Amino acid sequence: MKHLKIETILEVYDSLSELPENIQELMHKAHEARKKAYAPYSHFNVGAAILLENDVIVQGNNQENAAFPSGLCAERVAAFYAGASFPNVPFKALAITAGSTKSINKTPIPPCGACRQSLAEYEVNQKKAIEIFFMGETGKVVKAASIKSVLPLVFDSSYL
Ligand code: THU
Repeated sequence: MKHLKIETILEVYDSLSELPENIQELMHKAHEARKKAYAPYSHFNVGAAILLENDVIVQGNNQENAAFPSGLCAERVAAFYAGASFPNVPFKALAITAGSTKSINKTPIPPCGACRQSLAEYEVNQKKAIEIFFMGETGKVVKAASIKSVLPLVFDSSYL
């Protein structure tokens, strides 16, 4: 028996102002999207913004439903909108912000497992890493250099 050690390195920034200007702008777009989230059941609003290779920024937010599983996360709303509107245009970076309407969230919120898997499809196809930045409503920002950094052992089409 051998052990397989999986290591991941994330960068943690004390505030958004430490990041490059284009990433600050992207996160501002994510905040803008979060404020328009439709989350009447969880009261947990999530905003996402994707910077495309053609410099277009696509926004998304969580869209909930009375039949709970019918809703969709902010990251996938943004990714699928980008894929539908700009097919084959690579994603350069994704910014995510999340928080409850009941208190101010300062904890960086990473994308859920299903969103990581959906995002991996785009990263694998474009053969270029997608940078991910995630935060609460305020406070620290975490950067992952690639989807692989938050989704080791990704399942992709090479296994089919
Ligand atoms: N949510 C997202 O939008 N993204 C995630 O990565 C995690 C969860 C949404 C789904 C649901 O509307 C609410 O947050 C609570 O789970």
